[in-house]
Amino acid sequence: MCGIVGYAGTRDAGPILVEGLQKLEYRGYDSAGIAVMDADGAIGIVKGAGKLARLIATVEGVYPPGTTGIGHTRWATHGRPNDDNAHPHVDCTGNVVVIHNGIVENFLELKRELQAEGHRFASETDTETLAHLIERELDGGKDLVGSLRAAIGRIRGAHAIVVMARREPGVVAVARVGNAGGVVVGYGEHEVFVASDLPALLSQTRTVVFLTDGEVARIRCDGATYWSPEGEIIEKTAQTVPFDPVAAAKGTHKHFMLKEIMEQPECLMDTIRGRALFEPPSVDLEDLGIAPERLRAVSRVVLFGMGTSMHATMAGRAFFERIAGLPAEADNASEFRYRGAVLGPDTLVISVAQSGETVDTLEAMHEAKRLGALQVTVCNTPGAQSTRVADGTVYTRCGPEIAVASTKTLTASIAALYLLACHVAAARGIASETCMAELLEPLAHAPSLLGSVLQREGEIDQLAHRYHHAGHFLFLGRGLQYPVAMEGALKLKEVSYIHAEGYPAGEMKHGPIALIDERMPVVAIAVQDGSRDKMLSNIEQVKARDGKVIALATEGDDELASKADDVIWIPRLGEPGGPGSLLLPILTVAPLQLLAYHIALWRGCDVDQPRNLAKTVTVE
Ligand code: M6R
Repeated sequence: MCGIVGYAGTRDAGPILVEGLQKLEYRGYDSAGIAVMDADGAIGIVKGAGKLARLIATVEGVYPPGTTGIGHTRWATHGRPNDDNAHPHVDCTGNVVVIHNGIVENFLELKRELQAEGHRFASETDTETLAHLIERELDGGKDLVGSLRAAIGRIRGAHAIVVMARREPGVVAVARVGNAGGVVVGYGEHEVFVASDLPALLSQTRTVVFLTDGEVARIRCDGATYWSPEGEIIEKTAQTVPFDPVAAAKGTHKHFMLKEIMEQPECLMDTIRGRALFEPPSVDLEDLGIAPERLRAVSRVVLFGMGTSMHATMAGRAFFERIAGLPAEADNASEFRYRGAVLGPDTLVISVAQSGETVDTLEAMHEAKRLGALQVTVCNTPGAQSTRVADGTVYTRCGPEIAVASTKTLTASIAALYLLACHVAAARGIASETCMAELLEPLAHAPSLLGSVLQREGEIDQLAHRYHHAGHFLFLGRGLQYPVAMEGALKLKEVSYIHAEGYPAGEMKHGPIALIDERMPVVAIAVQDGSRDKMLSNIEQVKARDGKVIALATEGDDELASKADDVIWIPRLGEPGGPGSLLLPILTVAPLQLLAYHIALWRGCDVDQPRNLAKTVTVE
């Protein structure tokens, strides 16, 4: 899940590459590097361990000269994040420079073969084998594209590869193999760009072409040529993408994570707008592109995703059971793929992915496709791979999410899944107008109530200060608050590096209770959704063992508050047990996002780019 950029044009390539990489650091920030080629084929490389800022400081505004180049930010897979292992990588003679996203699964075997032929390796990376494979093909007389295609034929795994060679000045060749993340080609005036992800291109162009599995492209300042996996030259039609790059700016917020937490009410409105209709009450998912008859034929729903997106699917499961009356299950996408799932054309498979590029999710989608299921994806990124695999898409419309820790796309995905469940219920003829009105009313209130929860940021910061020295945290919830407990724990782990567990509260007495002592803060999500009384018992059990309880309680629930050490108040959303309860996760997860954020700040952590993580995980 490294970030990749390339440029062939008439302007100085260096600053353009760096600007593109700045938009891609969420894909990895272990090291950064660029290679720039001039009109005679001379190549200058600047690279090193650490974040892009370090490379920019090293360069001091003086880039290698040239109008063709490639650049990379790395998330280490093979080889430590040091200077030698930073991309670009070169062959023995420095004639070939390569950047790469993916894992060359048979690299050891290839490395031995190449070393036996006399190739000398300068890094521990799998990527370097590509430079040597391409060198060998060039020496054998092939051109750059032919050499790249031949190299692809030798490697296993999924990849995005970008390469330049001294003997072809002005040319960048690029290939996509499998699902190791996207490859986008962008068109400007007398210049063509390449990137692993759209945000890197949006300040330059919105006219783009996406490569699919096995395709190769050659870009020059005068345009791009494409090859099919079989090696035929093919036409590809450019499309215009709609994103507003301004939305990616941090604005007045100190961190993207805070900005993205605070903009959730607006994002929620964007997800709902034009889809939840009130006169008459109905859901319009026109952009889904799946006829109601097909949805009527569905007898079962399977949802999957990874990380935060998987937590959204757990809420989605309840929506499909309770609203659409369908048996539903939620799974981790990487487990789904290998579990031998039994499904067919009457199964609706729903994937959730902020990026739409997560390889675990994409592979699970391919498996579902192979089994003939109808597929919908809930996605935040226009044109992402998942949207091209699924039969239909529900976009969350949140704008780019930059912080590595997902926040706004969770609440928006929950809302999108709720709308989808209502839509399927309507297609199945089981949602009367009255019922639809009852379902949609709480959804309409959710954005403003979420806004009122976020106003408690100051109180949550104080709480964070009190608890930021804790070494462990337990998060407990029941029913729809169980995925919220898991998400609260995930957020805390990701950004503050505190060990945290999210448990279904009923499970506590079956083991985790052994962990509780006076040093163990327990976050108990005990809002009035039908499980409040049972949560009160959990709180009593924790207090009986001297644990510290931070309760999320419904406003006015003084009895519950009196049992806890600290309380975060959550507003009511409809009647307890009514449809509003289904949407309560939107309100309860927000304080947990803020708690993780502020604890991380008190601990001095890098909240937007936590260690070891990358925003989009395109390796298995
Ligand atoms: O782009 P996706 O939604 O498919 O990403 C899935 C996970 O990688 C992602 O949610 C990850 O767990 C985040 N870092 C959570 O904050």
